[in-house]
Amino acid sequence: MYKIFPTPNEVAQYTAQRLLDRIKSKPAAVLGLATGSTMEPVYAQLVTWLRQSTVDLSQLTTFNLDEYIGLAGKHPQSYRHFMCEHLFNKLNLSHDRVHLPDGLAEDVEEACLAYSAAIQAAGGMDLQILGIGSNGHIGFNEPFTSFSSRTHVIELSEQTRLDNGRFFSNPDEVPTHALTLGIQDILEAKEILLVATGAHKAAIMAELFHSPVDEALPASALKTHGNVTIIMDRAAAAGLPGELSNTNGVEVMRDKHWNAELPA
Ligand code: F6R
Repeated sequence: MYKIFPTPNEVAQYTAQRLLDRIKSKPAAVLGLATGSTMEPVYAQLVTWLRQSTVDLSQLTTFNLDEYIGLAGKHPQSYRHFMCEHLFNKLNLSHDRVHLPDGLAEDVEEACLAYSAAIQAAGGMDLQILGIGSNGHIGFNEPFTSFSSRTHVIELSEQTRLDNGRFFSNPDEVPTHALTLGIQDILEAKEILLVATGAHKAAIMAELFHSPVDEALPASALKTHGNVTIIMDRAAAAGLPGELSNTNGVEVMRDKHWNAELPA
């Protein structure tokens, strides 16, 4: 289902509340986490609320979606660094329960197999949070990634390297490859939240709304999952059918492709 809020701040509050509710209802929950600009206000709100609460985080397990190949965890643009800065260092999380793919793994194939296996051994993700790339990627699953993929190495598309160049002092420094959870891993989460804010996401969100389930648009795989909420601000929803994008407050609806089967 889609939920549209007037502002990015309301999107962050709603999303953080969904994460908090999950943690409160299941202290031993397994959370799938994303990085990126969209997540920053979500994590900021979550940290504020968790610090005000007495929720015990000692049983919480987290798995991040992706990591650049070739960046050490201490590199300021590594996703480990992002997570430490925005979440892990601010909360009392147990270090051995926090997982990210290892961008410096010597045997990447082995590291990929081990990562998907660790998620399954933990019981699978209770809640997976996702952003979306301007080309429709989820995690770093670029267009035409197989919907049956597990954790794997991906060559980043030119579009993704351009989009993410803003975080690096020189766009040429953006790594060419990354490790990412596969789409099948993502679809096995019990519950999924996809968050999109800002006018720069309007085109891809309109495309997603109208798209059938198609490997050309990785996020369209979510339409085969029974428990997905797509959370947007009005700017990101501007290209959806008019009566929906102009409403005041929250809109909840589905598109005609929802509950489709995965292509054989
Ligand atoms: C990040 C990730 C990516 C981002 C997406 C949107 O861990 O998996 O799919 O969610 O690229 O990034 P932002 O939020 O920076 O627009």
